[in-house]
Amino acid sequence: MSFHDFDEFLAEGKKPLSFKDGIPRFTPDESYSTGNFALLRENHATLQLDSKNGTTDRRDTILDRTKWSPEFFKGKTILECGCGAGPDTEILRGFGARVMAVDIAGVDIAKRNLGDDDGVQFVQASIMDLPFKPQSFDIVFCHRVIMHTPAPEKTLDHILQFVKPGGAIFIHSYASGPAQTWRWKYPLRPFTKKLDPEKLYNFICGYAHGAFKVTSALRKIPGGRVINHVLIPFMNFRHAKQFKNLTDEQVIEIGVHDTFDALSPPYDKPIPPQTMLKYAHKHGLDNVELEKRQMVTLLRTKAA
Ligand SMILES: C[S@@+](CC[C@H](N)C(=O)[O-])C[C@H]1O[C@@H](n2cnc3c(N)ncnc32)[C@H](O)[C@@H]1O
Repeated sequence: MSFHDFDEFLAEGKKPLSFKDGIPRFTPDESYSTGNFALLRENHATLQLDSKNGTTDRRDTILDRTKWSPEFFKGKTILECGCGAGPDTEILRGFGARVMAVDIAGVDIAKRNLGDDDGVQFVQASIMDLPFKPQSFDIVFCHRVIMHTPAPEKTLDHILQFVKPGGAIFIHSYASGPAQTWRWKYPLRPFTKKLDPEKLYNFICGYAHGAFKVTSALRKIPGGRVINHVLIPFMNFRHAKQFKNLTDEQVIEIGVHDTFDALSPPYDKPIPPQTMLKYAHKHGLDNVELEKRQMVTLLRTKAA
């Protein structure tokens, strides 16, 4: 399954601004993701890839959140909206899908991570203005991205047009309930998103080891988890069973990555669950279900 037919996916009149290293580029190299997501890609290029970190975190997360079996993906052509460094891309490929992996930033790093693979076509483009023909993908997949666009509802409306009739969708948004809003992230973001990303990143690196110790200790006392969640700006995954085989240093690196990922993006606007459903119905996608979890909202086509 290769993308020798890439041009067939392009809508009339859509031409890349440039084509470099096998990546068609429909947006300039600088974007609002430069400095935040792009900086993470550069500093932690392979951190999130199961093949590199020795976990099955991404695989398990995709299966858990989509509720689809690996066989469901096989032979499908997927539009991956916001691929980042490619941690989900490699899993989708492993399931036997071919993937049109789009991001506004860092696609060169994702391409390097995945290596030579003609079943993946990386594209530098905005998921608010994709160059593809409507109804041309079996699956539209958007994981951990939509709330980071300036107008998430418009973005959702836009990407849903690319699924074929009878195709499937998986859309993730952060939840907008109390567990999210009481967290340290949202009170801090009005300040941190305006800071120079390099300085913010170095600041987080500076306190990460201390915060790791404090949050690990607090977790062991009653009420400590709530204190960590609300007051201490550090993501400590030492307790997470998917990371149990990682060293403390590796867990701290994930903590630095995810803390910066929470505090630096210019946009973080979760979509209300019912709004997600409304757009699915607008696009005639009726065989969908909404799952509201404490930290995330998931909209997906029901498994057969
Ligand atoms: C939190 S990361 C998630 C990446 C990947 N899906 C993952 O789960 O690791 C969010 C990604 O969305 C991308 N992004 C933000 N706005 C975008 C847009 N308008 N078009 C395409 N990608 C965008 C960022 O560049 C970043 O790579």
